[in-house]
Amino acid sequence: MPVYNEKDFIPKQAPGRFPATWEFQTQAPSNIAIIKYWGKKGMQLPMNASLSFLLPQSLTTTKASARLSDKISDKVKFTFLFDGKENASFSKKIAVFFERIVHYVPYVKRYEWTFESENNFPHSAGIASSASGFAALSKILIRLERTLYPEADEILLYHKTSFLARLGSGSASRSVTGTVAVWGTHPGIPGSNDLYAIDYPFEIHREFRRMTDLILLLEKEKKEVSSTTGHGLIDKHPFKHPRIDQARNNLSRLSEALQQGDWDSFGQITENEALTLHAMMMTSNPYFILMQPETLRWIRLIWDFRNKTGIPVYFTLDAGANLHLIYPDVYEQKILSGLDELTQAEKIINRIRL
Ligand code: DP6
Repeated sequence: MPVYNEKDFIPKQAPGRFPATWEFQTQAPSNIAIIKYWGKKGMQLPMNASLSFLLPQSLTTTKASARLSDKISDKVKFTFLFDGKENASFSKKIAVFFERIVHYVPYVKRYEWTFESENNFPHSAGIASSASGFAALSKILIRLERTLYPEADEILLYHKTSFLARLGSGSASRSVTGTVAVWGTHPGIPGSNDLYAIDYPFEIHREFRRMTDLILLLEKEKKEVSSTTGHGLIDKHPFKHPRIDQARNNLSRLSEALQQGDWDSFGQITENEALTLHAMMMTSNPYFILMQPETLRWIRLIWDFRNKTGIPVYFTLDAGANLHLIYPDVYEQKILSGLDELTQAEKIINRIRL
């Protein structure tokens, strides 16, 4: 598998012909990181390698309509509608995205764009909607590139999709790959690199073939501190270097566990990463807490249940208060009846198939 560099993603010549109008609709899933990306360097490059699973049922759908423009402007002209309405904060993020990527997709300036986007999950639910959102946008742009450059190399375009998505939101780089993605250079993962995410290259044990990610919606308020702000605090964080070492070791150990079918070790690393992510928040300057009392109450319930039954159900957290429960599908009935509050709780279920 070739590893591309940044220059490979710059088109070498102008396309022969531009269609006068162009339309395309696509979907992209969100993802949940098991090894967390927290801290960046340079232009959206990760401080450490991360590994995630796609959440195939938590989707952004985006439709793009492009009209060839008479004038080429420096800025990309677009209207972005979310749930049918203009949304100033999303539009601002997309404008920044276009500024960062235009060098690699200069043809987008030839068009005036309308994007209509929606999620099938509440966008404040703590599911990474920016991941699926930027992944969908990047898939659209690469589809246009494929139309404009029919000879383009498919593998290069596949990686370029992730490269572009990364420039929108780091975690989005992991939403355009196969089910298990690795983003960031890691010595034990061939092909891994900071510019784009790749498919996890080793065979995963059948123990992990059918698992569920159940998101418990404990809080639907917008979070007080954005991920981008949190990442920004890592540069001067006293635990920056230990964290880099820990993430590297955790990914090595996780990779072993995935190949060997070791749920205990998988679960221990998963929870360690989730709690470390929040510990990094609580120890940055300024410090902050995104967990809520309900988050901790549920963590205790899950631990008690696991200790009593031996059933492999583990949690992870994003940058928010909502818990993701991860378990092999076969235990679902036992988990639902043992943790009976779960039946009533507001939740989103994703079936992960490896
Ligand atoms: C805690 O990808 O949202 O979810 O690159 O600034 O957009 P930006 O940050 P973002 O950070 C995600 C952080 C995380 C962990 C993870 O998904 O790896």
